[in-house]
Amino acid sequence: MLRVRGLKVYYGRIQAVKGVSFHLHEGETIAFIGPNGAGKSSLLMALSGVVKREGEITLEGRNISHLGPYELVKEGIIQVPEGRQIFSGLTVEENLLLGGFNKRRERGWVKKTMDWIWSLFPPLEERKKQLAGSLSGGEQQMLALGRALMGDPRILLLDEPSLGLAPIIVDEIYSTLRKLRKDRSLSVVLVEQNAPLALDFAHRAYVMESGTIILSGETDMLKSDDTVLDVYLGRAGGDFFE
Ligand SMILES: Nc1ncnc2c1ncn2[C@@H]1O[C@H](COP(=O)(O)OP(=O)(O)O)[C@@H](O)[C@H]1O
Ligand SMILES: [Mg+2]
Repeated sequence: MLRVRGLKVYYGRIQAVKGVSFHLHEGETIAFIGPNGAGKSSLLMALSGVVKREGEITLEGRNISHLGPYELVKEGIIQVPEGRQIFSGLTVEENLLLGGFNKRRERGWVKKTMDWIWSLFPPLEERKKQLAGSLSGGEQQMLALGRALMGDPRILLLDEPSLGLAPIIVDEIYSTLRKLRKDRSLSVVLVEQNAPLALDFAHRAYVMESGTIILSGETDMLKSDDTVLDVYLGRAGGDFFE
């Protein structure tokens, strides 16, 4: 569905992504794991067009390398950024409306989708008139996800959805994500520092270090890979999968 070749991202003279290639099948979830500073967020932002990039990106065989952020949203490539980045001075409802901006001309879409999001995340409906900045971390993550869903994603780009959240909330977010990708047959590109979580959730994963992919494969295979076990799961991490 999505094919990326030789993706590069520069910040001035710093090269954050150094010619990375990968693909994503329809309905598949791939994960990028790796340490802080590996270039994972830069890669995701390059896919959503919010940072300048080099390289070739094709969507179902069409070259979309030249598209900007708004056009990519219209193609259904929609990002949930790291740290949520919701508009804290706007209400929950207003945040969702902004997420549906690209669909505003489609009759009934906004209302129908918002109702669906309320059913997905009941705490958000209770707080719809509240300022987004007053929500808890978990609720803000739900809102960031809801806002992305309002734009009708086909490929959802998730940047560290577990970051800074209590384990029980992380479980909740991930079980919602599982349900979502199944019900909506979403394709997902996930970035996670929490390797056990990512390897459980994704079908395939790419391990990144200093802007390059050093290892990739089916997550079931990576879970027993020596490098992954030592570096990312600290050996004891093996217990996560028992
Ligand atoms: N806006 C920026 N300006 C300059 N350097 C940046 C910027 N954002 C990220 N970097 C650098 O790019 C590299 C990759 O960062 P990032 O993509 O955030 O990695 P990750 O998400 O894997 O932690 C790091 O060396 C980081 O310091
Ligand atoms: Mg990051």
